[in-house]
Amino acid sequence: MAHPYLQTFSLDGKIALVTGAVRGLGLEIACAMAGSGAHVILNGRDAANLAAAVQTITSRGQSASALLFDVADPVAVKVAFAEIAATHGRLDILVSNAGTRNRKPLLDFTDEEIQSMVQVNLGAGYILAREAARLMLPLRSGRLITITSIAGQIARAGDPVYAGVKQGLTGMMRALAAEYGPMGITSNAIAPGGFATEANAAAIADAKIHDHFANRTPLGRWGRPHEIAGAAVFLASAAASYVNGQVLNVDGGMSIAM
Ligand SMILES: NC(=O)c1ccc[n+]([C@@H]2O[C@H](COP(=O)([O-])OP(=O)(O)OC[C@H]3O[C@@H](n4cnc5c(N)ncnc54)[C@H](OP(=O)(O)O)[C@@H]3O)[C@@H](O)[C@H]2O)c1
Repeated sequence: MAHPYLQTFSLDGKIALVTGAVRGLGLEIACAMAGSGAHVILNGRDAANLAAAVQTITSRGQSASALLFDVADPVAVKVAFAEIAATHGRLDILVSNAGTRNRKPLLDFTDEEIQSMVQVNLGAGYILAREAARLMLPLRSGRLITITSIAGQIARAGDPVYAGVKQGLTGMMRALAAEYGPMGITSNAIAPGGFATEANAAAIADAKIHDHFANRTPLGRWGRPHEIAGAAVFLASAAASYVNGQVLNVDGGMSIAM
């Protein structure tokens, strides 16, 4: 091979689960991991959309399968992990990506909306990590990768609940790095900045919001969805074997600029 070191970035033979993988950043991460040699289990809530996402990967001759469940339903999560155990007998990589947004001032939130945001984004993160750890611990290896946000690090008015749950996930990720590091499992986070995904379609269509984010970012633009994927492959690969408990900001420099 011309560049043998590149092999340390390979995910050959690995089994990866990516939640919320039918579109956006999750689909990009799933595609990149499959393209790096992993068998990727794509999770989603809509059977037709999920089948289309899996087809995107398998049509390239890469390996992927579908696992339909709602990450916010603990019973469904347990059933899904039992299926992974029965089918594959192992899990090497979890990318906890599924998330929802509800951007508005605190006074506009109902109790139910706050509870739902916390359950889908933060509670599900714990349950997914716990079930993944059950499969990784016997292997004494594994990669827990949590998608957080720079919104959990730098605050913006009118978005209080999302900021809190994403910061909570950072705390979880660090605690799990300490808890599972001795057992060979690493835990890290990727914090995206502003990416041009469907979730941000309305913001991008609004010239004022679009320009605010672009101008606030040293690279001068929104992230393209595929630009998230290299960070995920790196953290999942042997090249990141000594990276544990870290947040990798993929934000065009937004979080370090004044
Ligand atoms: N885009 C950005 O600029 C940005 C910035 C910072 C952080 N992030 C984070 O990155 C992640 C992906 O963002 P994105 O922009 O790609 O979002 P997106 O386009 O809205 O995609 C989110 C995915 O999560 C799935 N999902 C939501 N709730 C789910 C549930 N309960 N169970 C299973 N799947 C569920 C959605 O499926 P459905 O189609 O069924 O809804 C969808 O496939 C999120 O955690 C987000 O908070 C994104």
